[in-house]
Amino acid sequence: MADALKVGVAGLGTVGASVVRLIGKHSAQLAKRTGKTLEVTAVSARDRTRDRGVDLSAMTWFTDPVDMAKTADIDIFVELVGGDSGAAEDSVRAALSRGIHVVTANKALLAKHGVSLAVLAEENNASLNYEAAVAGGIPIVKTMRETLAGNEVSRVYGILNGTCNYILTRMEAEGISFEDCLADAQRLGYAEADPTFDIEGNDTAHKLAILTSLAFGTKISDDTIYIEGITSITTADIQAADELGYRIKLLGVAQKTETGIEQRVHPTMVPKSSAIARIDGVLNAVAVDGDFVGEVILVGPGAGGNATASSVVADIADIARGDRTPVLGMPAVDLADYTRAGMRKHEGGYYIRLSVYDRPGAFATIASCMGEKGISLESIVQRRGEARANTPKDEPQPVILITYETTEEAVKEALEAILSKGVVADAPRMIRIEKLS
Ligand code: HSE
Repeated sequence: MADALKVGVAGLGTVGASVVRLIGKHSAQLAKRTGKTLEVTAVSARDRTRDRGVDLSAMTWFTDPVDMAKTADIDIFVELVGGDSGAAEDSVRAALSRGIHVVTANKALLAKHGVSLAVLAEENNASLNYEAAVAGGIPIVKTMRETLAGNEVSRVYGILNGTCNYILTRMEAEGISFEDCLADAQRLGYAEADPTFDIEGNDTAHKLAILTSLAFGTKISDDTIYIEGITSITTADIQAADELGYRIKLLGVAQKTETGIEQRVHPTMVPKSSAIARIDGVLNAVAVDGDFVGEVILVGPGAGGNATASSVVADIADIARGDRTPVLGMPAVDLADYTRAGMRKHEGGYYIRLSVYDRPGAFATIASCMGEKGISLESIVQRRGEARANTPKDEPQPVILITYETTEEAVKEALEAILSKGVVADAPRMIRIEKLS
């Protein structure tokens, strides 16, 4: 009989219940694979009466996760409480201080306190594993922390939020507005009741902050990420992108540049021919550019009880086998300071949508403002058709510009100049184009 390893699960929502179910269902296989019998011996949740579809009767019950972390007779503490402070933080710190290994799915906690928690874990000879915190069921943390250890990474990017990808996919496929897609996503349970964190890009930013540290060996820096969500994307943008050979995705991108590291979350135009453009619906995808391996892309479910539990149990299995990888891929004390590359220095192509007064010289003015900033235009499209035919002269008309590679600073300054000339009716819309192979 294999040695027993006692697991305490704090937080019994969808993921917590799936973790208990998975460990029960695959206990024989897990024992063979890890050499240990995994046993959930303690659980913590507020409501004891709720039916979670799993038998919890043999487990010691704690209403307070911090109490469990401080006193339970366990080898591994699984934190599924959520939140970047409070009980989640206190319980993880309490467990690590006792030398108890921790497995967490909490991206917000790691984005904010990842480095200090890594220090605490390493001081106490405990593991802190968090595969489920980034892209749910996709094994990207293990891939970056271990499998790609021999590479120098130049960029990591991905679709890290299923809610946004679901909304953008449906907007494109069915021509439905952002608001209607969001309402459907909420009705179907894909989006939270309060979806702000998802649609404004914060959830993606938390995951990106962790990936950046793993990619570049730098301290986590979650408050320096440029964040722009998807709320202002219109079906007109999506249609124009389609006609120009692009799809719009909410990407999180961390990239090494000459001035530092860019961390950015924003709607992005990606060529239809790229792998990332074909990731639809609630799926997530993460791509890593390594100097020896080239580009690696992992695709899979980024959320959901069972997919997330799969990652949580993988982390538990690593601990059971005795695998001890430094929390952020190298000892926390060796992580370099993060140097931010400002967005104004960002280099890339741009999609720009202008609402241009239909009058002589308007195009010439726009082209000259762009030219003065050294911006070369790949295409200019004035969208004609029914609306154009029926609108009186001098009414604003949508005009789409695609630039060749330039800097964000040049684009911003050119757009300010265009606005000041009175040839456009409202603020220009700008979407970054990501260079992908
Ligand atoms: N709410 C996230 C998503 C999953 O929609 O992908 C948890 O981070």
